[in-house]
Amino acid sequence: MNIIVTGGAGFIGGNFCHYMTKKYPEDTILCIDKLTYAGNMETLAPIMELPNFKFFQTDIANRDAIYQIFEGEKPDIVVNFAAESHVDRSIKDPEVFLRTNVIGTGVMLDACRKYGIKRYHQVSTDEVYGDLPLDRPDLFFTEETPIHTSSPYSASKASADLLVQAYARTYQMPCTISRCSNNYGPYHFPEKFIPLIIANALNDKLLPVYGKGENVRDWLYVEDHCIAIDLIIRKGTEGEVYNIGGHNERTNLEVVKTVLSELDKPESLISYVTDRPGHDRRYAIDPAKIHKELGWLPATTFSEGIKKTVRWYLENRTWWENIISGEYADYYQKMYGNR
Ligand code: NAD
Ligand code: DAU
Repeated sequence: MNIIVTGGAGFIGGNFCHYMTKKYPEDTILCIDKLTYAGNMETLAPIMELPNFKFFQTDIANRDAIYQIFEGEKPDIVVNFAAESHVDRSIKDPEVFLRTNVIGTGVMLDACRKYGIKRYHQVSTDEVYGDLPLDRPDLFFTEETPIHTSSPYSASKASADLLVQAYARTYQMPCTISRCSNNYGPYHFPEKFIPLIIANALNDKLLPVYGKGENVRDWLYVEDHCIAIDLIIRKGTEGEVYNIGGHNERTNLEVVKTVLSELDKPESLISYVTDRPGHDRRYAIDPAKIHKELGWLPATTFSEGIKKTVRWYLENRTWWENIISGEYADYYQKMYGNR
């Protein structure tokens, strides 16, 4: 099979390309990535020369270029990871989120409609459900929870989901959607919370914690997300949405303290900074559907996953040091300079 993976030079798409090229040597992975600030060819270096991997530097919103790839490669499956993915950037500059996350998804769907496809899979997020109160630990996001977004990022991802559902119904396209909780693991861009605090702690820099650090995220080791998507594209039911998450809720403060203890660094590095506007309080996924229908359960616990992740950042310093020594320094100053 020919499988298009968009956004494959990013964090989760990159891990997915590694996972799929290894697991299915008989399939060809066709990676499409624009290489924005978040795309990194060093993430793909270990698989670039494999005979079952091809890379196209292309914008998913570029209709002609996308149609050309479909015409030449005749994909069987498309997995759309490509997105602007950082909430804080969406608050500062929403427009590119609409272009990539909404228009780009529309172009990918049009290409699938024009050339035919066995499955289109949209990688969505639990953020489309909004947030849950901190004092109701009994509440979880199910696939029936209404869409209720908070940030320009989550609004753009929800819009993309609605487009996918509209194409599935109107054009009877074979589509699935997954909505996953927060991922962590290797190749995670250090603007995001866990890699940011690992990199800062290793450089003895302050760790910016928004507000009081009480917000809760439901953390999933990235390989477990890859396994879930692989199951959905092969065995999931067309037209369905699947939530992905492993009941690994932690406050941000708990996460920071765990990382500091793994690195043997002092808690005096923690610095409370101005909160994110509209900051979602708690995300928590109910994964009962994917468990019941596809037998998926996360394989990696948070304590194992965070150890593996910290070890990866220690052993792959060049990967993240190359990032934070570039234009990232300006980003960091702009985002955290006066916070
Ligand atoms: P990322 O920012 O690390 O990677 C995004 C990739 O998409 C980059 O390689 C970038 O170059 C590429 N890209 C951006 N715009 C593009 C365009 N117009 N055309 C082609 N490529 C483009 O993101 P991530 O954290 O790996 O997230 C991947 C997907 O998973 C996103 O759709 C995100 O919404 C979703 N998701 C992420 C998480 C998480 O915790 N990171 C959780 C649930 C869902
Ligand atoms: O839930 C899935 C989503 O998880 C994905 O859809 C997004 O693409 C992904 O970026 C992530 O969104 P979050 O906003 O939850 O992730 P982030 O790493 O930006 O922040 C995690 C938590 O940590 C959040 O409560 C904000 C807080 N935070 C973040 C940063 C960057 C801080 O306290 N300090 C920081 O410097």
